[in-house]
Amino acid sequence: MNYSDIHTDIGTWYERCGRHDLPWRKTDDPYLIYISEMMLQQTQVKTVLERFYFPFLDRFPTLKSIAEATLDDVLHAWQGLGYYRRARYIHETARIAAPRLPTDPGELVRLPGIGKSTAHAIAAFSVHAPVPILDANVRRILYRFFARKKATEKELWQLAETLLDRENPYTYNQAMMDIGATVCLPKNPDCDTCPLERKCLGRSAPQDYPAPKRAKNRPVKRRCYLLVENGAKILMRKRKGDLLGGLWELPSTETAPKEGEKLFEIVHDYTHFRRIAELYRYRGKKNPEGEWIDVKELHSIATSSLEKKIFARLQKLTLL
Ligand code: ADE
Repeated sequence: MNYSDIHTDIGTWYERCGRHDLPWRKTDDPYLIYISEMMLQQTQVKTVLERFYFPFLDRFPTLKSIAEATLDDVLHAWQGLGYYRRARYIHETARIAAPRLPTDPGELVRLPGIGKSTAHAIAAFSVHAPVPILDANVRRILYRFFARKKATEKELWQLAETLLDRENPYTYNQAMMDIGATVCLPKNPDCDTCPLERKCLGRSAPQDYPAPKRAKNRPVKRRCYLLVENGAKILMRKRKGDLLGGLWELPSTETAPKEGEKLFEIVHDYTHFRRIAELYRYRGKKNPEGEWIDVKELHSIATSSLEKKIFARLQKLTLL
């Protein structure tokens, strides 16, 4: 099948309707594109744009500046974005690749935390390499365009390669992201304005592709967090392990402390589970392990969104 007519329509559509003002589309610097791609992996464009992209780049204008910083500094600049593994990967990648990120997809994909789609995005947007992107939006378009109810990862990559406009990979890939974000929407796709409509095999029943997933219930995990006070200081400890490693957190236990007064509960959703955090003011004789942190310093250490919610609630209740 020849898709040159679709490619022309996609190009025309992008001219008229594409999000040309996004700052990472006004540069060919692979580092700036890389940071945007890492931020955009789990965070919406609006949030990245309004709150995180510019402050992060003010603090770390080059890959070299990250390589020279401590992990703590990078985590601190990443605060609020969540999924802190991304910040650790950026630090590792900078230490390996500084002063310059490669632009070859095969080299990029060998760096920590850069998957195939991110590698392709960096390569296509910095040096116009003819490689397709496969993010959630593009996947949905492919399922519909090829009327596929199910597809393996390998098949999706094959479909992505099949449809790719090799002559204009920059425009094609940016346009596909925008079409996924504004036209080929999960619920009510606006097929009438879609540049892929002419050859879209799923056009008559877009909601059937891909086959809807059954709703899954996230497991609920409870944990007891301890407010341990000593004058103007509270106990915190630095988290080890992968999920939120390197961040400061409150001491916590599986079961409620015997010598504690329950203050409140906070519900916090992660991708794979829901956390119910029970907060206790701890009055036991033996303190858990940790370091005493001045309450005034809490805003300047790297903590997760859950800790921030807990501190905000404590402040509201004038308990902190
Ligand atoms: N999400 C990931 N990469 C993006 C880009 N370049 N533009 C808009 N959204 C994106």
